[in-house]
Amino acid sequence: MRNLNQDNITQAVIARFADTPDPRLKEIVTSLVQHLHAFAREVKLTEGEWFQGIDYLTRTGQMCDAKRQEFILLSDVLGLSMLTVAMNNDKPQGCTEATVFGPFYVEGAPHYELGDDVANGASGEPCVVRGTVRGIGGEPVAGATINVWQADDEGRYDVQRPGLQGSQGRGELTAAPDGSFHFRTIVAEAYPIPTDGPVGELLQATRRHPWRPAHLHFKIDAPGYETLITHVFRDGDQYLDSDAVFGVRQSLVADWTPLPDGSHALVYDFVLNPAR
Ligand code: BEZ
Ligand code: FE
Repeated sequence: MRNLNQDNITQAVIARFADTPDPRLKEIVTSLVQHLHAFAREVKLTEGEWFQGIDYLTRTGQMCDAKRQEFILLSDVLGLSMLTVAMNNDKPQGCTEATVFGPFYVEGAPHYELGDDVANGASGEPCVVRGTVRGIGGEPVAGATINVWQADDEGRYDVQRPGLQGSQGRGELTAAPDGSFHFRTIVAEAYPIPTDGPVGELLQATRRHPWRPAHLHFKIDAPGYETLITHVFRDGDQYLDSDAVFGVRQSLVADWTPLPDGSHALVYDFVLNPAR
């Protein structure tokens, strides 16, 4: 086909994908072309703007390495990550809600015994976290694997500290036979997502702040149940209604109760969805 113009190029491109054998890939690529072209038409994209966009995405890719995933961060601030979580985690009433994974989970975190201090030297106010992992029928999930990770009081995860050996503020625990767990750590504080790359540029150009409300991350696995990836957010945080990555759910907000000795306590129970 020759002499394609702005009125017929979209259909011509879609037709070129007609023989895609994988029906799901065909559906995705067809819709992608449709929406990309519609977007370009709607904003009347100039050639200069197209080039700027390509340059932006190129720099986003160049920022990525084993410890830094700028594309996920871009998806996060555009709300695409949370939209995908919301569409794929429609659980029965009573189950703990899911939220964004974030870029700071590390495979193979150190295992701790119940009651241990997962802060492992990370700076912050001391805090005890306890709760229970249950199924939707109220049954305890004995031996559930609980991964927890968090930033320190300067808003940094261990993986953001160059030169740090070992893990701080992250660990894996095994729930007791009655589904209960407890561990020591530090109080979660609000922190900004990384702004030293293209995502930071976007936030600044659009006058958006980079802050996430204080939270602990949890990933909970147990045979026979869906993996739960979620946070517990700290009540009273000033960023609960303007999380830079749109991850807050009211059911995940909890109290970090101050104790007489200056430490804090958080109690939060998790309810897992049976595996589908
Ligand atoms: C986090 O909570 O660790 C996080 C989530 C999304 C983007 C950046 C950080
Ligand atoms: Fe986080």
